[in-house]
Amino acid sequence: MQTVRVSIDRSFAIGETDPRLFGAFVEHLGRCVYGGLYEPGHPTADAKGFRRDVLDLVRELAPTIMRYPGGNFVSGYNWEDGVGPVDKRPRRLDLAWMSKETNAFGTNEFIDWCRAAGIEPMLAVNLGTRDGDAARRLVEYCNFPGDTELSDLRRAHGWPEPHGVKFWCLGNEMDGPWQMETKTAEEYGRKATEAAKMMKWVDPTIELAACGSSGRTMPTFGAWEDTVLEHTFEHVEYISLHTYLNDYAGDTAAFLASPDLMDSFIDEVVAIVDAVAARRRSSKRIMLSFDEWNVWYRTRRRSEGRTKLGWPVAPDILEEVYNMKDALAFGGACISLLNHADRVRCACLAQLVNAIAPIMTETGGPAWRQTIFHPFAQFSTLGRGRVLRAQVDSPTYAATYHDPRGAADLAFPLPAVPYVKVAAVHDEGGRIVTLFVLNRHLDQPAPIEIDARGFGALELAEALEMRDDDLSATNTKETPDRVRPRALTGVRVEDGRISATLGPASWNVIRLLSPER
Ligand code: AHR
Repeated sequence: MQTVRVSIDRSFAIGETDPRLFGAFVEHLGRCVYGGLYEPGHPTADAKGFRRDVLDLVRELAPTIMRYPGGNFVSGYNWEDGVGPVDKRPRRLDLAWMSKETNAFGTNEFIDWCRAAGIEPMLAVNLGTRDGDAARRLVEYCNFPGDTELSDLRRAHGWPEPHGVKFWCLGNEMDGPWQMETKTAEEYGRKATEAAKMMKWVDPTIELAACGSSGRTMPTFGAWEDTVLEHTFEHVEYISLHTYLNDYAGDTAAFLASPDLMDSFIDEVVAIVDAVAARRRSSKRIMLSFDEWNVWYRTRRRSEGRTKLGWPVAPDILEEVYNMKDALAFGGACISLLNHADRVRCACLAQLVNAIAPIMTETGGPAWRQTIFHPFAQFSTLGRGRVLRAQVDSPTYAATYHDPRGAADLAFPLPAVPYVKVAAVHDEGGRIVTLFVLNRHLDQPAPIEIDARGFGALELAEALEMRDDDLSATNTKETPDRVRPRALTGVRVEDGRISATLGPASWNVIRLLSPER
């Protein structure tokens, strides 16, 4: 491959990353909660039933904010079922995942788990089968100090201090026919506005995200955001985006190109929300909450075992086993999010444990890191700071990505995909410049030269690569470290110029130390 040239300049920044860009998601889905982060009786469980082995991996993964309790689940959830004495909590049918919900784990347990993990909680309210009244009552239960029935109920349940939850989602994927009580944009916009008003009257310090389209392939995408924001504009700070990358077609080149469609999706949503602001002559900028993103295709369709018969408790569903190829597409998504740090102020990897997750567990047994764990941990721990505008001059290839919309298949032609995708982050305090670099060429190494201006005489701090000759390689209970970052050799740094040769189909992280603050 021809040499790829990248230029960055210390003074050309996209924006500062918001800590919430590095979030994840816990849904009552399969073994995410039960047998995942919560398993009383597990050899590593603490007094609250939280698996310490999972907590250790979560700390290493370093998500900053955690969305809960759904997802599709929230659209049928009565939050009251999950608080109070555990032996009095009802067992209910969960129509989202066709399973039985014991309610042994609920809002208070989730808050305790977040505190143990050092993570900010984010709660979603049910705007499917319930309404603004249930939502404002949950805000009062969680955030009001005391001397009202609901805040005193929380205190009586054993949580004397308010939970102080700041970030709230107004429902989930309300445009999706798979959702309990799907809505039109008009219906949802009205309902979300009334819920938002009351929730903020209870606690004016909270921030709210309205549901955007549940995907870019939805037939109503665009019109949905426009109508929903016409209603909610004055009441919300964020609009949500969801994307799951897939390789149904078995076309690796197209799959690795697919994160570029996340870039387009973000740009399009920014254009729509800013058009709503322009119509109102408003300087308010609605920010983006990309609160579900991941790779997901092996366990997505009903025919692929998405649900299990017999209404089981915590069934082993959506337990996608990620391989090396998935980790590359996933890394591309991390780069897309970083390169939109100015408008994507929150993002959640969906999900955290077992169900489409970076962490896998065996019930009663060990926990291990899936392939996608590693790019996320690097993104979260090394991606904080000022994202710089990377000018990339790379050879390109053409691909056509396919994305399902229900039973239909949509084709997205991508005529000029740069083989090399880059994000650069400057952590001024730490004097570190971190480059996240994906080489999407499947069989050729990428010679790369990076011109980094304004940092003085950079020195190499660390260079890591993740690659495997077998793109289908996975991590399993038996071989938990088969796919992981290893040292990248041959990186040269001279007079602000960095040169390296990146392996074919590789994810690379290069960290440079600047003498100047
Ligand atoms: O993350 C899995 C599911 O995907 C979520 O419950 C839903 O919001 C989305 O469709």
